[in-house]
This record gives sequence, C-alpha cells and structure tokens, in this order.
Amino acid sequence: MLGIKKDGELIGTVMAGSDGHRGWVYYLTVSTAHQRVGLGSELMRAAEEWLREKGAVKVQLMVRSENEPAMIFYERVGYEPSDVNVLSRWLSG
Ligand SMILES: CC(C)(COP(=O)(O)OP(=O)(O)OC[C@H]1O[C@@H](n2cnc3c(N)ncnc32)[C@H](O)[C@@H]1OP(=O)(O)O)[C@@H](O)C(=O)NCCC(=O)NCCS
Repeated sequence: MLGIKKDGELIGTVMAGSDGHRGWVYYLTVSTAHQRVGLGSELMRAAEEWLREKGAVKVQLMVRSENEPAMIFYERVGYEPSDVNVLSRWLSG
C-alpha cells in the first residue's frame, strides 16, 4: 500500500499488486478535503512505478459502473475501458 500524509494524517492511499506480468490497482482514494489538487494522479504514478519495478507490463483496475467521477479521473490519467467481462462468485453464504 502506498500513502500520502499531511501533518501526520493519511490523506490518500492506493494498493497495488503484481503477478509479474499484469499489475492491478485497488482502493485508490483521496480524502474529500484534499481532492482535485493532483494527489490521485500522484498516487497512480507511484503505483505504476512500483508495478514497473516488479516487472509488470500492463496495469489493470476495476471501477464500479456507477462511479462516473472515477471513470473520468482514470481516463484523464491515461486509462481506457477494456473489452472484457469480469466474472465473480461469492464463496461464503
Ligand atoms: C478518484 C479520486 C481518487 C481522484 O483523486 P483526486 O486527487 O481528486 O484526483 P486528481 O486531483 O489527480 O484529478 C486529476 C483529474 O481527474 C479528473 N477528476 C478527478 N476527480 C474528478 C471528479 N470528481 N469529477 C470529474 N473529474 C474528476 C479531473 O480532470 C482532474 O483534473 P482537474 O482537477 O485539473 O480538473 C478521488 O475522487 C476519490 O478518492 N474518489 C473516491 C474513491 C474512489 O471512487 N476511488 C476510485 C475507486 S475505483
């Protein structure tokens, strides 16, 4: 996990994981009071750099369909939709 602190307070985080080929980014978030000043972009660049060092050649992430602001953000920082289906199955319950 990568984070940005201000005055000792965590104001932005992102998680990244690599299988050695593809990298994944999860849980990007910037506290509401500190959004729109470039921290989300900074965290994505840091995650990409971390993944590049791990040998990943591509970064993927998932965004809930209704999260339009996040879609705008990710497109702004260079991401584009992929023509894939995401399948899932709950293992509990
Ligand atoms: C998505 C998120 C991380 C962006 O963080 P941020 O620090 O505000 O992003 P940046 O300041 O680097 O934004 C870069 C550009 O993305 C676009 N952008 C960012 N937030 C946006 C929003 N809410 N609506 C529209 N465009 C947005 C803008 O073009 C922005 O540039 P600008 O401010 O010069 O116009 C932040 O809004 C957030 O934490 N959202 C809630 C959690 C979330 O949805 N995370 C993604 C889960 S998949």
